[in-house]
Amino acid sequence: MLYNGEHVGDGTGPECDVAVDPIDGTRLAALGINNALAVLAVAERGTMFDPSAVFYMQKLVTGPEAADVVDLRLPVKQNLHLIAKAKGVKINQLNVMILDRDRHRGLVEEIREAGARTKFIMDGDVAGAIAAARSGTGVDALMGIGGTPEGIVTACAIKTLGGVIQGRLWPTNDDEKQKAIDAGHDLDRVLSTDDLVTGDNCYFAATGITDGDLLRGVRYAKDKVLTQSIVMRSKSGTVRFVDGEHQAHKWESYSRQS
Ligand code: FBP
Repeated sequence: MLYNGEHVGDGTGPECDVAVDPIDGTRLAALGINNALAVLAVAERGTMFDPSAVFYMQKLVTGPEAADVVDLRLPVKQNLHLIAKAKGVKINQLNVMILDRDRHRGLVEEIREAGARTKFIMDGDVAGAIAAARSGTGVDALMGIGGTPEGIVTACAIKTLGGVIQGRLWPTNDDEKQKAIDAGHDLDRVLSTDDLVTGDNCYFAATGITDGDLLRGVRYAKDKVLTQSIVMRSKSGTVRFVDGEHQAHKWESYSRQS
């Protein structure tokens, strides 16, 4: 894991902002539950949002059809109506993905009262957000409070996939709140995909750790390790799936030398 502001690299090549989440879904990986990913995003230097000390963010993610109509400031029910209308479906056909947390009790009630369905995840709202942005996943939106770094990484993926992530910083105590204000943040501001990553030259890569809707997890064969990754480039809009066959004994031999 990198800490905020950590410098990496040897100074050669283009200057970049890097966000990593070596395991998005640590508990999922530990328990062998679906959808743990290793995630990395890269963008031009200075283009990734700096959340200062604020770890959490309120999020709303949906795909391209409803990207221009949703607004985090609107009541949940109204956003769901707008998503349903944009997708040409009834509100009771919408699936909203949400982290299974006590803090989401009120939100879950609002979603259900509006008539939509909830789809809980134990962890891993990067995979959840990607499912919400891509078509054919059976997920129409992701709502709720999750990690800010995960929100920034998600924005890099959304820049390729289309759709939107809107976020609002959600400090959990007065100290975080004050640090954010001192850093110049307006806590009422709704951050768009473009605020989270400005510009249009970013990359997103994820490798499956456990099996998931997006990627197959790591598999071990007799003398190989098999992985599946997704790589996205925002500028071209290219999405690549990469199947890796790794020969672990080779890494072992050279990592021992270095
Ligand atoms: P880890 O990468 O630390 O395992 O985080 C998993 C995760 O579920 C993220 O996807 C999500 O944004 C965040 O944790 C939510 O935080 P919390 O578990 O504190 O509600």
